[in-house]
Amino acid sequence: MADTHEVQFSRGLEGVIAAETKIGFVDGVEGRLVYRGFDIGTLVEQSNFEEVSYLLLYGNLPNKKQYSDYVSKLKRYQVLQKDELDLITKIAHEAHPMSALRTVVSYIGAKDSRTVEPDSEVQEELGVEIIAKIPTIVSAINRAHEGEKPLGPDNDLSYSSNFFYGSLGRKPSTIEAKMLDAALILHADHGMNASTFSGMLTISTLSDMYSTITAAIATLKGPLHGGANERALALIQKVGTPDNAEKVIGGMIERKEKIMGFGHRVYKVYDPRARILKQFAEQVTKAHGKENLFAAANKIEEVMISKLGSKGIFPNVDFYSGLMYYSIGFNPEIFTPIFAVSRASGWVARSLEYVRDNRLFRPKALYIGEKGPRKYVPINERD
Ligand code: ACO
Repeated sequence: MADTHEVQFSRGLEGVIAAETKIGFVDGVEGRLVYRGFDIGTLVEQSNFEEVSYLLLYGNLPNKKQYSDYVSKLKRYQVLQKDELDLITKIAHEAHPMSALRTVVSYIGAKDSRTVEPDSEVQEELGVEIIAKIPTIVSAINRAHEGEKPLGPDNDLSYSSNFFYGSLGRKPSTIEAKMLDAALILHADHGMNASTFSGMLTISTLSDMYSTITAAIATLKGPLHGGANERALALIQKVGTPDNAEKVIGGMIERKEKIMGFGHRVYKVYDPRARILKQFAEQVTKAHGKENLFAAANKIEEVMISKLGSKGIFPNVDFYSGLMYYSIGFNPEIFTPIFAVSRASGWVARSLEYVRDNRLFRPKALYIGEKGPRKYVPINERD
């Protein structure tokens, strides 16, 4: 086929359908996010992260035995070896937490001889192992970044509460536990986004699950993917009180600056994840004496919707999540690694689904360079 087949050209593959999935559905018109047929609101209200992780991987909610087997496996795998913790201590005080996470996941994979087996059952087991280890790794990175020693996982705590405890050194209150579990559920999967695609691309070469997740983490690191919540929080802090919102936001809109935490490629209505997180943000900011920041955020939202709602610009998942994490004590640098803790389940589920009906990804680039043939000039005869 000629390289000039323009009908196929879509910059950045935008809008190109390259895979089929039964895992998750993003409805940008109705403002719905669905995992395996369940609305995310139902899952946040009635389920927990472990169940949702299982649902993404295996297609159905677990029965009691499947649930207890899955949770036991996560608890067994969540522990890190001494050399792994030593590596974290060595690099995390100066490396960006996402670089540290990428390096540690890659290191653990490098020690595992099962990574050479392309069998998807083996890769599935490695996937569950990674899902179990990522919160322990991120917790230890967070502690090392703050100059603290890692805290071992507590087997009595749930996946999300253990992550809270390991990172912040205290057990969460009821509302904090519910909030973090909800945030992990809401970020677990979201279509064929860049990091998910990166993982699928890697496993499509029959590479292993550790390499797949390392690639996905590397992709999530970029500010166009993870990271908008850090900047949304900075804006909320800059506005500070509701009285300033009209002036600051109005000025930014006039100058055609992008307001972080608003707008979405797919959702042209209110992001369903933001609607749920807003309620939690209100509760945790109140519990931590940060009501002023929530009031400022609420006013920013009001101003944005009045000025840009008609263009389909509404809060996205990043607008309230940073405010929530900050209120309970997380350092903004750890916001993107928190995203990775959650998204690991989606990465594993999507890459396994893809490789079980595998087709090596191989898009083309339209050649717009010289077709030549150019004359080769020896180096000592060139200008
Ligand atoms: N602030 C101000 N104006 C905006 C914003 C925003 N956040 N988002 C879009 N607009 C404007 C656009 O400039 C455009 O204006 P125009 O009509 O004068 O040209 C109009 O609204 C329509 O924009 P869209 O074409 O619908 O937006 P697009 O799909 O190109 O961009 C994007 C989506 C990249 C997410 C954008 O909204 C943005 O940069 N938002 C801020 C960053 C952010 O919050 N990212 C996180 C997204 S969620 C996630 O990745 C997990």
